Amino acid sequence: MATPANTLDQSKSSPSFRSIFTPCTAEQRQQNFESYWEFSQQHAGKIYEEDRDLENKRNKREQFVTNQVRSRNPLPDLDAFYRNNVELVDNPETLDQKTLLMTCIYKFARHELNGIKGAWDTVPAVDKARDIKDKISRVHLAEEFCHVRLFTEMLHTFHLQDIEFPSLGPIETKVYEIFPHFPEALMSPPAFVTELMGMNFYIQLDEKICEILDDEPEARDRLRELLHEIMVDECAHIGQRRNFMGPIGIWFSKVMIKPIFKMFTRDIPEIAILFDVDRLIGDAHNFNYSTISQRIIDRSWVPSYCKV
Ligand SMILES: [Fe+2]
Ligand SMILES: [Fe+2]
Repeated sequence: MATPANTLDQSKSSPSFRSIFTPCTAEQRQQNFESYWEFSQQHAGKIYEEDRDLENKRNKREQFVTNQVRSRNPLPDLDAFYRNNVELVDNPETLDQKTLLMTCIYKFARHELNGIKGAWDTVPAVDKARDIKDKISRVHLAEEFCHVRLFTEMLHTFHLQDIEFPSLGPIETKVYEIFPHFPEALMSPPAFVTELMGMNFYIQLDEKICEILDDEPEARDRLRELLHEIMVDECAHIGQRRNFMGPIGIWFSKVMIKPIFKMFTRDIPEIAILFDVDRLIGDAHNFNYSTISQRIIDRSWVPSYCKV
C-alpha cells in the first residue's frame, strides 16, 4: 500500500488559502454546496444506506484488512487498555504512552459514533432528500460511520481485537439525540466547530503517532495511513460545514471554539495529557489550511472563497 502522506513540517500546504472564517455571499454558498456535492459523489462512491457505508470507503477498508499489519509487540499491559478505555480509572502517570494513545483513539471514536447515531435517524436517505443539503449531510454521516471502522482497524493493529463502543451516559445520549432536531441556524455553529476540533485533534494525533510509536515502524505507518484516509474526509467536512453559515453563524462559531474544546478535553482526559490543548484552540481560531499537508488537500475539498 502507499506510503503515508506526511502531514508534518516538510509537506505543509503552501499559503494559498484564506481563513476558514472568510466572509462570503449566499450565492457563493449555493455554488459551493453544488461543487461539494459533485466532489463528494466522486470521492465516496455509491451509498449503501442499509449498512451506513460507502462504496469507495468500503473498497479501501477491504484493502487495509486484506493487507493487515500488526504491531511487533502488543501493548505492555493489554488489561490496562480494557480497564481504562471507557473511563480512565488508573492514575494516568502509571500508564505508558502507547496505552494512553490507544485509549485516547478509542474514546474519540466512541464519541464520534454516538454523536452520529442520533443524526442518522433525522436526515433522510439520499434518494428521499429534500434538497442538496440533505444529500450532502447523509453522505457526510455515512463517512463518519466509516471513520469509526478505520479507528477500529487502528486498534486492531495493536492486537486490541475486542472493540465495542457502548452508549455514552444518559445525559450525553439525550443531548446527541436532541441536537440534530435543532434548526439549521442553531445547529450549524457547533457542528462546524466539532469538525474544526476533529481536524486539529488529528493533526496532533499524527504527530503523537510518530513520536510514541517510533519502535513500531510498520504499525506506525499503518496507523498514519488509516488516519490520513480520515483526514481527507475531515478536511472537506470543515469547509462544507462552514458553508452552512452566514455572518452570525461564523461569529457564534468563534465564540464556541474554546468552550467546545474544553468540554471535549474534560470528556477525554487523555487529550490534555498527550496533546497541547492551547495549540488545539489557537490552531482552530487561525485555521486557514496551512497546517494540513498538500497531499491531503489535493485529495480533499476547499470552499472557493477560502482559495486565494
Ligand atoms: Fe470523522
Ligand atoms: Fe467530520
